[in-house]
Amino acid sequence: MESRKIIVTSALPYANGDIHLGHLVEYVQTDFWVRFQKMRGHRCVYVCADDTHGTPIMVRARKEGITPEELIARSYEQHTRDFAGFEINFDNYYSTNSPENYEFCKDIFARLESAGAYLTNSIKQLYCPNCKMFLPDRFVKGVCPKCGAGEQYGDSCDACGSTYTTADLKDAHCATCGCRDLELRESEHILFDLAKYKEYLRGWLDGHTPQDVAKKLREWFGDDQELLPWDVSRDAPYFGFEIPGHPGKYFYVWLDAPVGYLASLKNWCDRNGEKFEDWWGNPDAERYHFIGKDIVRFHCLFWPAELHAAGYEGPTKVFVHGFLTVNGEKMSKSKGTFIKAATYLKYLKAQDLRFYYACKLNGSTDDIDLNLDDFANRVNSDLVGKITNLASRGAQMLHKNLGGQLGEMDEAGRKLWQDALARSEEIAADYEARDFSKVMTEVRALADAANQYFDSMAPWKLVKEDPEAARKVLTSILNIFRVLTVYLTPVLPSYSLKVSKLFGEAPYQWADAAKAIENRPVEKYEYLATRIDKAAIDSLVEASKDTLAAAEAAPKPLIEPVKPTIDFDTFAKADLRVAKVVSAEAVEGSDKLIRLMLDIGEAKPRQVFAGIRKAYDPASLVGRSLVMVANLAPRKMRFGVSEGMVLAAGNPDGSLFVSSPDSGAIPGASVR
Ligand code: 2FM
Ligand code: ZN
Repeated sequence: MESRKIIVTSALPYANGDIHLGHLVEYVQTDFWVRFQKMRGHRCVYVCADDTHGTPIMVRARKEGITPEELIARSYEQHTRDFAGFEINFDNYYSTNSPENYEFCKDIFARLESAGAYLTNSIKQLYCPNCKMFLPDRFVKGVCPKCGAGEQYGDSCDACGSTYTTADLKDAHCATCGCRDLELRESEHILFDLAKYKEYLRGWLDGHTPQDVAKKLREWFGDDQELLPWDVSRDAPYFGFEIPGHPGKYFYVWLDAPVGYLASLKNWCDRNGEKFEDWWGNPDAERYHFIGKDIVRFHCLFWPAELHAAGYEGPTKVFVHGFLTVNGEKMSKSKGTFIKAATYLKYLKAQDLRFYYACKLNGSTDDIDLNLDDFANRVNSDLVGKITNLASRGAQMLHKNLGGQLGEMDEAGRKLWQDALARSEEIAADYEARDFSKVMTEVRALADAANQYFDSMAPWKLVKEDPEAARKVLTSILNIFRVLTVYLTPVLPSYSLKVSKLFGEAPYQWADAAKAIENRPVEKYEYLATRIDKAAIDSLVEASKDTLAAAEAAPKPLIEPVKPTIDFDTFAKADLRVAKVVSAEAVEGSDKLIRLMLDIGEAKPRQVFAGIRKAYDPASLVGRSLVMVANLAPRKMRFGVSEGMVLAAGNPDGSLFVSSPDSGAIPGASVR
């Protein structure tokens, strides 16, 4: 078979979040595929990077009081640690905040500019004068125009699911600082004229993207739904790359993120004495992106159109997968099913999750479910019970009774071994098609057959009557197990490495399956896989529970958002005093008001009309100390002049609660 040159990428994770089991669906399957290609003898380079630019990262760094550079450096450490823990074997893991990436961005931008691929337009956007920045939709909060739920994002409502624009949002305020004095500011933006590449994309989608994705995207191509221009610029301040020739304008993070694939590849080339032109620039090389279905627009429209317009080779295929659910539901922080990679590794083994994901992934865009009971059952019954047991029983018996020495396979065993070998190309084709679940089904069936043979031959009895016959059976079993291990190597790399050591061999390549190991010693058996204790899963879920999120998830009354900040001097202008109720009576002609006479240490009590009648019987207030605003300008009311105001808490349901200092505070004492 001719060796192929294959470039593979996974989506670049944002540098402001932890890697979780949802992310791993993608990295794990990409890793299976890459390892498989390498085992087949192809030249395959797996590149990725942290996605480091954009407003969320800038805002998060500001909040933490660190620079964005510090934030992304920390994230890089954590991400690379988590990926290594899950045996994700990148050839290069880089950063979009790299010189190579800026060079590629500038180059592509210049080529697109001269190809006339850009438009400019004046765009109005909300601006927070306090944070001194334009606010992307997710940084604006307010009341949903459809259902009235408060604290909803500027683009969609979590409560009723409707989508809208920030212009429709009521009580719009800055999600970061609460400022309500947002301005609608206009500025010049640079837009990629996507419609220009409509015909190119129409042809490109087939053959380069999954059919269901192509169909969905083509719906946008209808006559009335033109492909809208895509805004690729952002105004300062922005953590990203400044656009050449456009001071104060930055490339939108989604412009430089996919370019990060090229930059990471270039960095790999430079460090390994390879030429970029021989890889991305090589029409005979293959370029594959693994992505989730949430980002197809960027990878199957904008990105191929940009590459085409800039004269770069485009992706050979974009492989799209679905989302992860846990126990049949969206991952939930309050239920403890939003599980971070690092937390998982404290309780369970990476290879168990890799095995389970392999059982579930079939190359389609369907979501996959991590059912935690099923997860434990599959690992325990299939990986440990069916597959690993062949080796643990076989090798241990061989050592205990037969000096750890392999003989030759018996006839029946050799036949089973040959059956297993005969599946090699079929299983390879399943790997190639990313139908990992089919691979696992095949391997399980082969393991079943081997276990039946093992049990029917009962070598543990045979060894007493005819040790050499038992040696043959064990030799067959271990040879079949070895073939299964070669097939499982892309999924279970460190497991496979231990098996190759057991047999005194080099790490397995695909072609190694065909070799028989006979008349030689095997090393002492080392544990390859152990059962999952369900208590470990319970502990993992418990450790993943976010009590804060649980409180947030509980149904909550709608509380008014906090008002914009004031400075201390403004606050100090309010003169708050302890006020003792001298008398209290219901106001005739009003069902809301109580007339209070309040002692605040002055010569005569103050008269205050308080709207607390529905919550208090006037008599119950007499003698109580309250808090009043003593310097509020007197207000003339229908029933007389109110010379201040008493403080009371108002719940969203309208219930009221006056504020009272503890006993000991004397009338007229200042409240601070
Ligand atoms: O959706 C995301 O998490 C993005 N950070 C993915 C970027 S992939 C590529 F375009 F860089
Ligand atoms: Zn703000």
